[in-house]
Amino acid sequence: MKLEYFSLPFAFAILLLSGCIGKHIHKNVRTFEDIKKEICGYSSIASAIIDLAVHGKAQNRSYDRLALFVDTIGNRMSGSKNLDLAIKYMYNALQKDGLDNVHLEPVKVPHWERGEEFAMMLEPRNQSISILGLGSSIGTPPQGITADVLVVTSFTELHRRAPEARGKIVVYNQPFVSYEETVKYRSFGAVEAAKVGAVASLIRSIASFSIYSPHTGWQDYQTDVPKIPTACIAVEDAEMMARMASRGTKIVITLKMGAKTYPDANSFNTVAEIVGNKYPEQVVLVSGHLDSWDVGQGAMDDGGGAFISWEALSIIKDLGLSPKRTLRLVLWTGEEQGGVGSRQYYELHKENIFDFDLVMESDTGTFMPLGLQFTGRDKARAIMKEVMMLLQPINITSLYEHGEGTDIDYWMEAGVPGASLLDDFQKYFWFHHSQGDTMTVQDPALMNLCAAVWAVVSYVIADMEEMLPR
Ligand SMILES: *[C@@H]1O[C@H](CO)[C@@H](O)[C@H](O)[C@H]1NC(C)=O
Ligand SMILES: *[C@@H]1O[C@H](CO)[C@@H](O)[C@H](O)[C@H]1NC(C)=O
Ligand SMILES: *[C@@H]1O[C@H](CO)[C@@H](O)[C@H](O)[C@H]1NC(C)=O
Ligand SMILES: [Zn+2]
Repeated sequence: MKLEYFSLPFAFAILLLSGCIGKHIHKNVRTFEDIKKEICGYSSIASAIIDLAVHGKAQNRSYDRLALFVDTIGNRMSGSKNLDLAIKYMYNALQKDGLDNVHLEPVKVPHWERGEEFAMMLEPRNQSISILGLGSSIGTPPQGITADVLVVTSFTELHRRAPEARGKIVVYNQPFVSYEETVKYRSFGAVEAAKVGAVASLIRSIASFSIYSPHTGWQDYQTDVPKIPTACIAVEDAEMMARMASRGTKIVITLKMGAKTYPDANSFNTVAEIVGNKYPEQVVLVSGHLDSWDVGQGAMDDGGGAFISWEALSIIKDLGLSPKRTLRLVLWTGEEQGGVGSRQYYELHKENIFDFDLVMESDTGTFMPLGLQFTGRDKARAIMKEVMMLLQPINITSLYEHGEGTDIDYWMEAGVPGASLLDDFQKYFWFHHSQGDTMTVQDPALMNLCAAVWAVVSYVIADMEEMLPR
């Protein structure tokens, strides 16, 4: 039905009845009611986005694109040829998709390679121990390190037993509490062990479930503490050695690691846009990281987040929608080394910080979406809550506290509203940074839902009359 066939008062009455118009006409004194009405006015667009992503032509597209990408390129460690290939691949794919301003922004990233690595228990019996060296670890001398093992379950126990640690390989068998709580053993296990004279450290993988796979990750040395080689071991081996030690059994391990750090490498953040039609300089940023660890396929961490972010722009473009502000996709590089790409991006673009409306990141998997985590002032939160109501057709309307993510934290700390995808990530740490992070973890139907959430929120915020209040 076309509006011009009706008299204006009649049309106005219809809009009133539909619940989507109010004091809209008093532009200068917009109340929250006005904003609510404005958001409500997006309900048919939101439905169209959801239909396209979940039921329509775009069904499974982000999954299919991701599968082709990870099957073609494989994993994408910073400094690797694979990451270079991945960036070229995405540059071409985003151009082919017809997005605007596809370009690469140079970033220097750490370049560490694990080389050959191997561990063998020699006493009480010979058994190979599966390891994954930790990012930035030094290697061992070519003949390896052979030493007795001291098993501890915490830093407290390590400090209490410090005199026993000298000359030993410290094995940490800390229980998994949560990633945030337990990851300190991966990050600082080597430093703490070196402080008490250990020659290497082996750390129980930071994983909530295990079928005998080690999980890698970044670790940090300190300048005033000797560097010792460090790797993760499977939960099963950490527990076995803890049992042996508790029986008073002597354990000896030989460890060989060929790990090396090379000079920083050239890499890029990959950017594409739908340029805003009214305020092109103002930006809603959607993002995930393109780099991964050098094991598995990096399909979950963070292939899923990167590809639903691309999908959000594809969907909006396919529907012929043109938001007032620019929608910008950023595929970060160097995330796994501590958000290296996003830090350089922030430094480069922070002079335009007042043009950043909302920064969004997905990096805890693309399982069943539960809603968004949001960081911003109460006024902005109230608006976001209304925007989430547009997702009623798929019943994903919750807005939680604490938007977070390595790649958007700088912006949020500087006051820019930020949102991260909250999904049912119970299984995330089963696969994270392990050989198990493959396409098999991903589910096309769930990626469709994630993409719908991402597209609706990013489009509506980019198209509203006003930026989110800070
Ligand atoms: C999407 O994936 C689901 C689950 O694998 C499948 O049942 C469905 O047919 C797929 N749809 C398309 C359009 O490929
Ligand atoms: C255990 O392994 C070491 C080193 O590989 C080897 O020298 C030794 O003979 C092995 N011992 C047994 C009992 O297999
Ligand atoms: C919608 O989601 C909520 C959880 O956010 C759940 O409790 C409720 O049962 C769901 N409703 C439907 C109709 O699926
Ligand atoms: Zn990640």
